[in-house]
Amino acid sequence: MLRTSLAIAALCLLGFPFSAIAQPLAIPPNEAISAHMEKGPDLSDFVRTCPPGLNDTPAMPQHYGQATILNMPLNRVFAIGQQTFITNFNACDGAGRPATTGTGAERTPDPAMGPRFTRVSAPETSSCAGCHSQPQPGGAGDFVANVFVLAQAADPVSRIILNEDFSNTWLERNTLGMFGSGAIEMLGREMTTDLQAEQQSAITSAEASGASVTVNLLSKGVSFGALTANPDGSVNTDAVVGVDPDLVIKPFSRKGAFRSLREFTVTAMNQHHGMQAVERFGVGTDPDEDSVDNELLIGDITAVTIFQAALPAPIVSTQGIDRATAVHGAHVFNEVGCTGCHIPSLPLKSSQFCDPDPQNLAGTFNDTSQSYCFNLSQTGIRGNSVAAYTDLKRHVICDSNKPHYCNEPASPLQASDSNYAIPGNQFLTAKLWDTGNSGPWGHRGDLDTIYAAITAHGGEATNSESQFEALSNSDQLAVVTFLKTLQMPILPPNQDPNVNMSNRNPVPNGR
Ligand code: HEC
Ligand code: HEC
Repeated sequence: MLRTSLAIAALCLLGFPFSAIAQPLAIPPNEAISAHMEKGPDLSDFVRTCPPGLNDTPAMPQHYGQATILNMPLNRVFAIGQQTFITNFNACDGAGRPATTGTGAERTPDPAMGPRFTRVSAPETSSCAGCHSQPQPGGAGDFVANVFVLAQAADPVSRIILNEDFSNTWLERNTLGMFGSGAIEMLGREMTTDLQAEQQSAITSAEASGASVTVNLLSKGVSFGALTANPDGSVNTDAVVGVDPDLVIKPFSRKGAFRSLREFTVTAMNQHHGMQAVERFGVGTDPDEDSVDNELLIGDITAVTIFQAALPAPIVSTQGIDRATAVHGAHVFNEVGCTGCHIPSLPLKSSQFCDPDPQNLAGTFNDTSQSYCFNLSQTGIRGNSVAAYTDLKRHVICDSNKPHYCNEPASPLQASDSNYAIPGNQFLTAKLWDTGNSGPWGHRGDLDTIYAAITAHGGEATNSESQFEALSNSDQLAVVTFLKTLQMPILPPNQDPNVNMSNRNPVPNGR
């Protein structure tokens, strides 16, 4: 098929060492969480009713403890998670967070703002699918669904001032699609394991030899620079590139700030909807003072995480597209070096997906004795090869000649889940496996053609972009045509929970 199978030479050039970049104050995403960490036991299933005096019904009355979810087959958990993803949460469910910000910190209740909808700092939507809707729930989003990262920490909450360019104050991001994301999470976990093992062996040999030992950090053919271990067990990470100094690959969000779907989901539920999960905010507590507690149980979060992880991997669709041109475009894409960062496929050692990630931090469930597992072949991953066109590494692809992707404000900086500031000009190599139907493009979604998204590349991508610009018009169009074939598949409507996942039609791609 179209897949160009290449020996993966990850020549992702010239990464900037973190120490070389000024790091203004960063607001850690998890900063305020510890205040509410009164971890209690999970609850068992229950049916919610509205608080007294609110004569309506919750949008999601049924809640599940982890024990119940663990006993359900994948198709059933997927259907429950899908339903949760599209639920328009309301006040009876606990939507809104009048007394807390999107990070979970206390905020000044502001009656003028109302507790519920606040476009910039959120909560701004009723459901996850309010943004992740293209081509269907779990997918990408249009410009109007953009998020203003870090505005969630604002207190008082940020108001929309229409005559001010609020995207220059906040870090504007366009909605990403989650199709195939179970495989993405597992790639990240396996790469983390590799890098941390390389670090550990350097420490061991430095201790044994009494001399400093430098190792190249390499996983799945992707180079993350080098690290030096000293005989006293300390490490120098100045030459580490494209990943935080803790060597944990964070494959989620445009900047590569989150390690797992579950971590992202718990954060998004609170930020976007004011729905607090017990695993982060405690059992029987009501930190946001909306008169509803136990808003989402561990089993509820597992189901919505599994829904995302089990969404089918993107496919190659040549419907309405000239096949020969697309095949030619895939070759040109390789020839001009796009594959240096957009690696056509990365191999998985294991095709088993299990939630939770054992490396989930405090505030996200991480008890692997209660894991929910399934095989990624059910999402269309064949031969453990994940054709996502990324290296899961951060790069700088802008400079003074090509400033477009440098459009972040100088400060504040977004921090990763482990609180490392991510330089403003660094972004994770975008996955291109859904490029065909995930527009608009770029981290802000402010580019409406694939051609513009390509020709905006500079920085580390200068060499490849210049080669692209030197191509004939028809070769450039062939590359664009090739990228249009990479698409999220359309699921049949109304998933019938009695249909086995592997019998879904259309069958996820034949990769
Ligand atoms: C207001 C729009 C909006 C809503 C509502 C929303 N998201 Fe997102 N989502 C985004 C944007 C924008 C991004 C990219 C964020 C970034 O790069 O920092 C994103 C990214 C993600 C990612 C990372 C995907 C990847 O491949 O890196 C996950 C997972 C996710 N969202 C899950 C959810 C879940 C679960 C919900 C509901 C609880 C939700 N989102 C609600 C806009 C939204
Ligand atoms: C040095 C690494 C690197 C090289 C080489 C590179 N890219 Fe990218 N590419 C990226 C990064 C990083 C992003 C994400 C930019 C952002 O988030 O705004 C990206 C984004 C994109 C996007 C936008 C995707 C989206 O969903 O918004 C397209 C399309 C793309 N690249 C195509 C190409 C093509 C075609 C080539 C070869 C001419 C190429 N890239 C070469 C790193 C690279």
